[in-house]
Amino acid sequence: MSTKLKIGILASGAGSNLPSILQAIQSGQIEAEATLLISNRANAGALALAQRFGIETLILKPDLFNSKEEFDVRLASEFWNRKVDLILLCGYTRILSLPIIKAYPKRILNIHPSLLPAFGGKGMYGINVHNAVLQRGVKVSGCTVHLVDENVDEGPILGQAIVELSDFETAETIKNKVQQAEEKLYPQALIKYAPTLPALNFAEIPYSIKESGSGGKSGTAQPDFFDDERKEYFYTKGNCTAYALCDLGLKRKENADTVILTSDLKIMGVADGVGSAKEGKQTSRMAMSFLEKKWLNEGSIAKLKSLDHGSWLRKTVIETNQQILNWARQSINKVDVGSTLVVGILDDENHEMYISNTGDSRAYLWRSGTMYRLTRDHSENFDPESGEGGGLLFYMGGGQGSFGLDLFQLRLYPKDRLLFCSDGLLYATEDLIANRFQENMAIKEFGKQLLEDAYNAGAPDNTSIVILDYA
Ligand code: GAR
Repeated sequence: MSTKLKIGILASGAGSNLPSILQAIQSGQIEAEATLLISNRANAGALALAQRFGIETLILKPDLFNSKEEFDVRLASEFWNRKVDLILLCGYTRILSLPIIKAYPKRILNIHPSLLPAFGGKGMYGINVHNAVLQRGVKVSGCTVHLVDENVDEGPILGQAIVELSDFETAETIKNKVQQAEEKLYPQALIKYAPTLPALNFAEIPYSIKESGSGGKSGTAQPDFFDDERKEYFYTKGNCTAYALCDLGLKRKENADTVILTSDLKIMGVADGVGSAKEGKQTSRMAMSFLEKKWLNEGSIAKLKSLDHGSWLRKTVIETNQQILNWARQSINKVDVGSTLVVGILDDENHEMYISNTGDSRAYLWRSGTMYRLTRDHSENFDPESGEGGGLLFYMGGGQGSFGLDLFQLRLYPKDRLLFCSDGLLYATEDLIANRFQENMAIKEFGKQLLEDAYNAGAPDNTSIVILDYA
């Protein structure tokens, strides 16, 4: 078992501090492995840089969270779940709040482009610092590596490097000089500091994460499943990208669809509630929250390596069905409520995906210019265009108790694009969906276009879409 220190990185911009650190790790000067880079900006250059070094990347958008604290709980949980021991800020422009600072005491390092305590504090980052240095007319500047605590730029200093300034500097020339000094200072500080850190006990979730109700993962702040049409999810991992949205449509008052997409791109799918709008909403959410919970408890990253993905999915879907069935019988005394469920689990190490289907939500594959429909509907003569026919044979919670699932294994190839959708999208017609695949749009554009197509068809039903680009 590897006992190497695991390093997590937060970056908002170009990632100019990364190459020298990652090279020092690669060459063995720093005995560690870089495990995950999270950025709050989808266009941060640091993402591509990290991917070139084979590091997992994640984009988390702060505006999808209710508060700074909720966002930082999620950050801390993502690192904690990957057993990250130490976090490096590399041009990260957000000020960290208590949930992450307390989860990682003396284990978050920052590099600041001045000689602290001069030119530090709120608003002092990047070029702002060098402009202030220039205006003040100081003759030396430099950079500081320090530990992060609750006071901005005031944590204990681990190392500093001085840069001489001439009379002819601009903010840009100062920045270049300082960044050259940073290239040496950050790895040096790490070489010294990393070996002093005792091992963390990852079985114990820090109270600052747990108390926020996250259970050590995504939490109430931003669960991995959602039915809120104002939200869209976009994640990258390695070269894979996923995008999900869930929309009310034009005619329905409630959204009975629920989408799941875990940030590690392991689980993805859609559920469409069956029954009254209210009951349907409850059941599809129940299906996804049960799946998420099972995933957090059993499918954690460490355990998954030895897990048989297909068996896990089959077992979990059967248990999910039982949950819904019990709830329907015991809590509302009904047998005709439930949910469809089409869900995939990605075994990226083996380039495989297992997909389970119950009901009439669908999965499609686009490969080498052809669209394949992967799932068959468990319904009799249902005509999505007229909305007539119907008669679902199988769904979660299953009618008079009938339940079935189709499970299959799909080998994935580079450039495969997968689409999971609820039947609401089918109003746009299958032909139009195939044409949209053909147009080869970027993932978000593709998702938004499909939704617009459903709208152009009157969007009588809720519409959910999850797309995976497998690179
Ligand atoms: C670095 O100079 C670093 O010191 C600074 O941002 C630059 C990296 O950003 N950090 C701060 O100002 C933190 N207060 P980049 O990766 O976008 O070039």
